[in-house]
Amino acid sequence: MHLLPTAFVGLIFAVQTYAHGLLAKPATRAPDAATAAVCGQTMVDFYKQDNTSYPEALIRADGLDEDYDAENCNLWLCKGFQFEDNTENVFEYKPGDVVDLEVFIRIAHLGYANVSVVDTATNTVVGDFLKLWEDGYADPEDSPDFPEDQTNFSVTIPELDGKCTQAGECVIQWYWFGQGQTYESCIDFTVPAPELEPEPEETECAGRTRSWRS
Ligand SMILES: *[C@@H]1O[C@H](CO)[C@@H](O)[C@H](O)[C@H]1NC(C)=O
Ligand SMILES: *[C@@H]1O[C@H](CO)[C@@H](O)[C@H](O)[C@H]1NC(C)=O
Ligand SMILES: *[C@@H]1O[C@H](CO)[C@@H](O)[C@H](O)[C@H]1NC(C)=O
Repeated sequence: MHLLPTAFVGLIFAVQTYAHGLLAKPATRAPDAATAAVCGQTMVDFYKQDNTSYPEALIRADGLDEDYDAENCNLWLCKGFQFEDNTENVFEYKPGDVVDLEVFIRIAHLGYANVSVVDTATNTVVGDFLKLWEDGYADPEDSPDFPEDQTNFSVTIPELDGKCTQAGECVIQWYWFGQGQTYESCIDFTVPAPELEPEPEETECAGRTRSWRS
């Protein structure tokens, strides 16, 4: 039972300065009931207050309550936001599709970033980075006119070798780490299952087997 009314919790969080960045397009995971169930309502309220915030700030604000379950709420994958809260926004892509992304950076922190397909069961990057900025990302000296390539760019859906056919299995994650702060935004998507190679059909014919292909 939460004894603090939400308005009061909001007040506590209001003292922190507004943070810092997110993937504005296409639609990404946002926290709701499924996230509250494994991460705690306190965390959900925190990100509803400011969806550009980040896990290190959440931890500093004591934003993990007794419902936080570290095994099912991984703060370092999609901030812990759960697929079940985003079932309305599952994109169907095909390998070769070009997807336009738009990043909103409210406050710049110089660091590195990448965009990649991540297997959500193992939190591992699938294949190559779709985008990689090894350094020089979100330099405050560029703010607010960041290089187009950092905030308005596209990625091409790769061949995924049979992975990412089920909703929730994979995300496209934008990940930015700058000055000790981690930002993660996740697009839920699927690709079609690869077509199975047809089995060569065998026909019995006068005691010997021949393939229909021969
Ligand atoms: C973040 O919050 C703003 C303001 O409430 C809202 O307009 C925007 O759609 C949200 N973006 C995401 C990606 O959740
Ligand atoms: C790329 O993103 C992953 C999260 O998916 C992160 O763990 C990793 O540190 C990032 N690496 C680089 C080089 O940006
Ligand atoms: C992003 O780039 C596209 C063209 O590449 C342009 O039409 C669009 O206005 C740009 N969006 C922003 C927010 O700069």
